[in-house]
Amino acid sequence: MLKTTKPRRSLRRKRLTGPHRRRKVFNRLLEHRLIKRVSFEEYRDKVRDVYDGPQGAMLATCSMLSGHTALGHRLFKKGKFELRGARQILDVGSGAGQIARHLLKYADPGAKLTCVDLSHEMLRRARNRLKHARPRFLAADMTRLPFADASFDCITCGYVLEHLPDAKPGLAELSRVMKPGARMLLLTTEDNFSGAMTSRMWRCRTYNRRELARLCDELGLVWHEELWFSRMHKVLRAGGICAVLVKQ
Ligand SMILES: C[S@@+](CC[C@H](N)C(=O)[O-])C[C@H]1O[C@@H](n2cnc3c(N)ncnc32)[C@H](O)[C@@H]1O
Repeated sequence: MLKTTKPRRSLRRKRLTGPHRRRKVFNRLLEHRLIKRVSFEEYRDKVRDVYDGPQGAMLATCSMLSGHTALGHRLFKKGKFELRGARQILDVGSGAGQIARHLLKYADPGAKLTCVDLSHEMLRRARNRLKHARPRFLAADMTRLPFADASFDCITCGYVLEHLPDAKPGLAELSRVMKPGARMLLLTTEDNFSGAMTSRMWRCRTYNRRELARLCDELGLVWHEELWFSRMHKVLRAGGICAVLVKQ
């Protein structure tokens, strides 16, 4: 079980002024609007269509070209997100299996891996890419997971939360299926310029880091540590939100 002794940063809201505020407003304007315009069900159907279609077929290549595959690999290789001891691992929104591939490489050999995704096509692509007998693949919406309470001691959720108009039902559901002390690696798009561009490309939303941290805390998911892909990403505050959460 993970120790939660590290002091957490204050989650107080900072008031933005001048150029910071203008930048935020600009990013908000740049963000794709679809997620705010339609109902959750309608939006979810559109997300499924996007990932079932040619854009989804390009996902693995996009992750490779943007450097995300290699950067994600660093997190696991360097043990920034600890997998040792995890017996039941859930990869949410596994897409083309980008994170699942690292899990298969770095998790304990006896660990059971479950990959869920909204898109059947993405699950098929992940299965074909991974060519591995260990993971089980399930089609499910992260806001309604077909698992009992406290089923998993480790969850990875990479770039999925931005496909929910409201993070709360998704995070609450992940919290429900986590055992006490279980840990989660959460990666998502941040409300900055590069996040807004990603939002345009994938018709998703972005999150404010502090607001998301506060919500996690409310749901009993302790915002344990913020990770950065590299020192340069930390200095430039680039690469989006990458956090380790621990279920209380
Ligand atoms: C950008 S890909 C992420 C792939 C991989 N996890 C990674 O880190 O690169 C987002 C994936 O989340 C899936 N997805 C979107 N909304 C979802 C939902 N509500 N429940 C489950 N999966 C969802 C999409 O079908 C897609 O495969």
